[in-house]
Amino acid sequence: MRIAVYPGSFDPITNGHVDVLRRAAAVFDRVVVAVLVNPRKAAVDDAETRVETIRASVAEALAEDADRIEVVAFDGLTVDLCARIGARWLIRGLRAVADFEAELQMAHMNRKLAPQVDTVFFMTALEHAYLSSSLVREIARFGGDVAPLVPTAVLGRLTDAGPDR
Ligand code: PNS
Repeated sequence: MRIAVYPGSFDPITNGHVDVLRRAAAVFDRVVVAVLVNPRKAAVDDAETRVETIRASVAEALAEDADRIEVVAFDGLTVDLCARIGARWLIRGLRAVADFEAELQMAHMNRKLAPQVDTVFFMTALEHAYLSSSLVREIARFGGDVAPLVPTAVLGRLTDAGPDR
């Protein structure tokens, strides 16, 4: 079975992440979305909330693949998670050239740590190329309309939290 891990902060998940996930699910038998619990990188939502929001987003947007997509929170090295669950691929999205250097460095480092794990990149669809979680948070904070940018499950959360969040 071809198992891939799609790691990230997902704070929050955007339509760009969903697009990458959809395409990864078309290639791999099982995709594990791994939400980083990182005390050093202050996330707006705690990991449990992000996991729940992603699960709801998968049910909403990727229903036909939902039985092959799992969402977990993880701490520590991504390659250690891969070893624990028998995943041999890491999924990352590339929006633009600006993403490339950091992603290249991370892919090489992960390969150094775990030569059996390969990173597979999906080019984010053009309509999502400008999208980032941090921009979504900022737009929502100032009361802008993020409905075209995120799954409905996220919209509910951003709206619930109010503009001062
Ligand atoms: O969505 P992000 O913030 O770009 O995701 C970054 C993430 C979670 C993929 C990266 O920070 C990561 O893998 N962190 C886990 C710790 C780790 O394995 N670090 C070494 C990476 S070479």
